[in-house]
Amino acid sequence: MKRRNFIALVGTSLAAAPVWANVYNSSKPASKAIDSVFPELPYAYNALEPTIDAKTMEIHYSKHHKAYYTNFLAAIKDTPAAELDLKSLFAGISKLPAAVRNNGGGYYNHMLFWENMGPEKTTPSAALQSAIEKNFGSMDKFKTEFADAAKKQFGSGWAWLVAGKDGQLFVSATPNQDNPLMDVVEKKGTPLLCIDVWEHAYYLNYQNRRAEYVDNFWKVVNWNTVNERYKNR
Ligand SMILES: [Fe+2]
Repeated sequence: MKRRNFIALVGTSLAAAPVWANVYNSSKPASKAIDSVFPELPYAYNALEPTIDAKTMEIHYSKHHKAYYTNFLAAIKDTPAAELDLKSLFAGISKLPAAVRNNGGGYYNHMLFWENMGPEKTTPSAALQSAIEKNFGSMDKFKTEFADAAKKQFGSGWAWLVAGKDGQLFVSATPNQDNPLMDVVEKKGTPLLCIDVWEHAYYLNYQNRRAEYVDNFWKVVNWNTVNERYKNR
C-alpha cells in the first residue's frame, strides 16, 4: 500500500490547511478542515501483526475511520465550519453540532493514531526522552501513566501524551472521539501520541483484554512521528 504523509495534518501544521491541497494534489480539497480524498493508511493491514491483526486493521481503517470521514464531510458541507482549518474548528467545537464533534474527532484522531504506529523499530529522540524524564521522572513512569490512562478510560475513548501551552508534557484521556485540541476538554494542548481504546481497536484479537492490547501497543509505537510532533509542537 502506498504511503501517504499525514504529518501535514498534525501539530502546528494544522493551521496551514492549503498545504493539504499540495499533499493530495489529485483533487481539490472539499473544505479547509477535510481533504476530498480519504487519506491512505501509511502501511499494509498486516504491518503491525501480531500486535494488531490484519482483520482488525482492515475493519478499523476501511469501515470505522472511513465512516467518520464520510460523516464529517456531510456534517460540515455548506456550513461555515467547512471554512475552518481543523485546529480552529476543534478550538470552537462546543459551538458546533455533535455530529461535527464526533465525526471530526474520529476523522482526525485516527489519522494521528495510524501515524504514531508503524512496523519499524524506532526510539524517542534525545529531546523527547529528556522532556519525558523531566515531566514524568522516567520513561517507565511515563509509560505506566499513559497505559493506566488508557486502561482506566471508562467505555470508549483515547489516551494521550500532550504538550501543554506551558511547554510541559502531560498524559490525559478523553471520552468518545474528543481530543486535546477541543475546547470542551479540560486538559488542552498539542497531541504527541495517542492510543484508541474503543473496542473496535482490539476486540477481534484481544476480546475484553484491553490491558494486554495497551501493554503491547509499545511494540508498534512509531517514535519518529512522536519526535516530529514534539519538535513542531
Ligand atoms: Fe477507532
